[in-house]
Amino acid sequence: MFYAQILTLFPEFFDSPLACSIPKRAIEANIANVECIQIRDFATDKHRSVDDNPYGGGPGMLMKPEPVVGAIREARRRDPNTHVVMLTPSGTAFTQDKALEYIKKPGITLLCGRYEGFDERIVDDVDEELSVGDYVLSGGEPAAMCVLDSMIRLLPGVLGSAESAVLDSFTEAGILDWPHYTRPEVFEGKRVPDVLLSGNHAKIELWRREQALERSLYRKKKTSSD
Ligand code: ADE
Repeated sequence: MFYAQILTLFPEFFDSPLACSIPKRAIEANIANVECIQIRDFATDKHRSVDDNPYGGGPGMLMKPEPVVGAIREARRRDPNTHVVMLTPSGTAFTQDKALEYIKKPGITLLCGRYEGFDERIVDDVDEELSVGDYVLSGGEPAAMCVLDSMIRLLPGVLGSAESAVLDSFTEAGILDWPHYTRPEVFEGKRVPDVLLSGNHAKIELWRREQALERSLYRKKKTSSD
């Protein structure tokens, strides 16, 4: 079974997304097991503090190293082969290929920070630093949930065979999906493209391929030109 551990100060953040839709199905079917470890449980002072001011001054607070490293060591104790990923905007970019790589690992641990970030001395205890995009979230939890969701849906048996066949066809090439339409045939004056109503499957497939390639080219250009 796929075993993910989440190190966080807010385990309740994950309750709702893991209780819906595909993640819920995967957990109920015992395909995925997700456990949270509360970082605060590893605080070492009597106030159970997890953050402190940065040396050298400046705004914001940092996560203290002791509770974070304590939580990482607990995750490694529970699963000695786990791959520990720290979520941070300064990490390497998360991609579909990374999701595919992670689900092949024996286990994965996602470390979520709050405040201005982590004390740098914890990095020796993690295997990888990962970002979900060039923007700053108020904590690693939404980033960890993106990573977790994208992994769970790739686990064998989670999606039905029809859904996973669609997934395969564009995961492999890094090509975006084609545009989709359902009923009604005309919505606010906008018609479903004729080709999709033609019943000609070869033509439909060709059209979809062209649309997907055009989108992939156009949208990737838009992001790389800024
Ligand atoms: N924590 C805050 N922002 C983040 C981001 N963009 N990716 C990963 N972790 C984060």
